[in-house]
Amino acid sequence: MPDERAAALAALAVEIEACRACPLGSQRTQSVPGEGSPNAELLLVGEAPGAHEDAAGRPFVGAAGKLLDLLLSLIGLQRPQVYVLNVVKCRPPENRDPEPTEIAACAGFLERQLALLQPVIIAPLGRHALRAFAPDAKISEAHGAPFQGATRQTPAGTTLFPLYHPAAALHNGALRPTLERDMGALARALPAARSTWRVARGGAGEASLSEIEAAAERDQLRLFESEAQ
Ligand code: URA
Repeated sequence: MPDERAAALAALAVEIEACRACPLGSQRTQSVPGEGSPNAELLLVGEAPGAHEDAAGRPFVGAAGKLLDLLLSLIGLQRPQVYVLNVVKCRPPENRDPEPTEIAACAGFLERQLALLQPVIIAPLGRHALRAFAPDAKISEAHGAPFQGATRQTPAGTTLFPLYHPAAALHNGALRPTLERDMGALARALPAARSTWRVARGGAGEASLSEIEAAAERDQLRLFESEAQ
């Protein structure tokens, strides 16, 4: 199954590279479908590739990506353990915000990636990515906690956990401690999110609440152990 998932994600990346459904497809250097572990529990979703990503064909390889790596390291994670992708797969010229029509043209790819990855937690990075999941939510209110409102695109059992975009913290240093705190909160939310995810998939469908809580405690322990390393 992991190999099948990796193959399906790779096939989707080929489709994305060939896509010309909006003008961005003809303007970019290369598409940026996303990358990471096909079995990642944590999926980080950015807005759209910038110049560095357009040149490399990989997400978050510029300054914001370096900060993202550092934030992940705070909770004992490295890039190959998570999955990183963008709502829009091709770079908008001059790094402008993607147009609603461009987001709509790419929405099917995002939907299929989410259906394949089925992550435990999706962390939309910043307001534009958050809008793809919760159109009316404000990042200033929703960051740093599991999102409680209605969402779209989110697979059943997946927890949405919005974060500020790392680029926002590069522009406004005052946001950086908030982003670091929010990363810690995300790590602490993981055990409960895993339980929700398992129940939704029927893995713990027959489990009693105490079994779910015991599993969550074990997860918490594992997390502390990996954080201590
Ligand atoms: N910002 C994004 O939203 N995505 C990237 O891949 C890089 C910067």
